[in-house]
Amino acid sequence: MPRMSLAPLRRVVRVTPLAPDLVGRALVGRIARRVAGRSIDTATGPGIGTRAAIDSDPRATLGALLQDVPVDQLDAFEREYQEIDHEIVARAGSRPLPMPPEWRTEQQTGLTLYSLVRALKPQIVVETGIANGWSSVIFLRALQKNGSGALHSFDVRDDVGKLVDPGERSPWTLHILKKGTLQEFDETLATLPPVGLFFHDSDHSYLHMRLELRMAGARLAEHGALCSDDVSLSHAYVEACEEIGLKPRLLVDAHKASGFAVR
Ligand SMILES: C[S@@+](CC[C@H](N)C(=O)[O-])C[C@H]1O[C@@H](n2cnc3c(N)ncnc32)[C@H](O)[C@@H]1O
Repeated sequence: MPRMSLAPLRRVVRVTPLAPDLVGRALVGRIARRVAGRSIDTATGPGIGTRAAIDSDPRATLGALLQDVPVDQLDAFEREYQEIDHEIVARAGSRPLPMPPEWRTEQQTGLTLYSLVRALKPQIVVETGIANGWSSVIFLRALQKNGSGALHSFDVRDDVGKLVDPGERSPWTLHILKKGTLQEFDETLATLPPVGLFFHDSDHSYLHMRLELRMAGARLAEHGALCSDDVSLSHAYVEACEEIGLKPRLLVDAHKASGFAVR
């Protein structure tokens, strides 16, 4: 007989006191998936394409989100990013990395994140899910080019961030969540100033992603950006944006889709 994983049940027990509304929705969705073979969102809400703009070109995403930024400025960000991307690829090929390469932030998503940080100049960037540190390097290099700002990165493992070079680490604070809970994440977030850009790339289960994005959304600065990887796995990202009145754009990358919204 196949063994049943207890992880979803543990997640429900942890999240219930923090967000009972989300747990109810997730349970209905699980039942719908079992009975109707459809995911939580397709079973209980309209399709994702009716709730977000969908782009296949990052310049369309950036053009829509950064309407005041001239095209030649976006071209300059793209040239900077291409150089950094080549550097990270070279690093990834020349050092041992503990986590699978396919966990990396994909190229078009990376360009969009880099350009948003360059254009919006956030003082506080927060990311969840560091792994080898692909996204961390992108953020740190954008902040370095801006000349100000700090990156706070959260993970549950302590062998993360191997792609980040020693010279890039000064604006970087690593938060290793000992219990890996959202409560611990939220308590740490509460100690930081308002978040100028948030990027989710940690646990992609509906409940975790939805609540983590709700917590980050509640602490978003004026003109802040709420961003996420793997947004096609559920409607967690779209719902979190709608909850705080943001209009999301979803970018289809090589193997995954990412989401971006600016307040
Ligand atoms: C897809 S990888 C992140 C990839 C990274 N953004 C990059 O560009 O290289 C997911 C990471 O999320 C971490 N993770 C899993 N559950 C987590 C949680 N509850 N809180 C924070 N991080 C978590 C994993 O340890 C892993 O390092």
